[in-house]
Amino acid sequence: MNNAIKHIQQERKKYAKDWCVDAKKFSEDKDYEWMENVIKSYKTVIEVGCGDGSSTLELCNAGHNVISIDENIECLKLTKNKLEQAGYIVSLIKRESLLILNEKRYKVNYSKIDDKLYGNSILLIEGDIIEDSKLLQWLKNNRPYDAIVCWLIGTHGYRIYNDIISDRKIKTPGDYRLIVQNRIYEIADELLRVNGVLQIVDRGETPDKASIKEDFIEGHKEQASVTSLIVNSLAYRNYDNNIDNGTKMNITIGNKMEVPNKLPNGSLISVISVKP
Ligand SMILES: C[S@@+](CC[C@H](N)C(=O)[O-])C[C@H]1O[C@@H](n2cnc3c(N)ncnc32)[C@H](O)[C@@H]1O
Repeated sequence: MNNAIKHIQQERKKYAKDWCVDAKKFSEDKDYEWMENVIKSYKTVIEVGCGDGSSTLELCNAGHNVISIDENIECLKLTKNKLEQAGYIVSLIKRESLLILNEKRYKVNYSKIDDKLYGNSILLIEGDIIEDSKLLQWLKNNRPYDAIVCWLIGTHGYRIYNDIISDRKIKTPGDYRLIVQNRIYEIADELLRVNGVLQIVDRGETPDKASIKEDFIEGHKEQASVTSLIVNSLAYRNYDNNIDNGTKMNITIGNKMEVPNKLPNGSLISVISVKP
């Protein structure tokens, strides 16, 4: 059992460390600036997945009120550190208790979040956006929000043994992204104010041909179809895929979530949906 805990910790640490490599490149290339620009006029933002905090810092520096949610404590710790070094006041809300069922199955229980006020601090909340009823309840109590962003979602290797993932038969990074994003569409429907936006950013094949762009939009329309959200616009920006030691996150092709060996022509793709 202790082995399983050790493995979870190792995988989380490895993921967080590897993501620093990717995030450094995205920061240097001003990709986070580009992503933030799309939602500039939306003040209160929920971020799903803080990574090493580079994306969160971009949101804070641009003046948003930020609540960031992550299931990986190592990512939350890196983010807290990064934001504090930049001079921000940060509250990290730890909520996890791990339950090891056997070597290949674990469960996470998340505690209730206090309704106390956190002042003007930036909130980092430990939680799993796929299934975490206490988090959702807290977010509902504090709604509405102007924007929800999910930039470049991905996860660590041990997550396949989490009951939430194995019960849903999630096998590939593409499946994972789809499940997380589908859930975020549903949550956005409950939490956003009228005319608030959901922004999903993925890496994928450059949608410079009408057919690729339509494929992408259709994929998101399907995801939004169980909600009232309206898929509104797509923007993209070429990015350099040559990172040697990063997380090597797989790529989304059109709406099919396939995994090519080599991406000939890759972009960051931002899709905006609006709450009517
Ligand atoms: C690839 S990183 C991207 C981080 C950041 N958005 C960025 O663009 O740099 C994905 C982050 O999402 C987090 N994550 C993945 N699945 C999640 C879930 N179900 N709930 C909360 N956070 C999740 C991971 O732990 C990781 O920190």
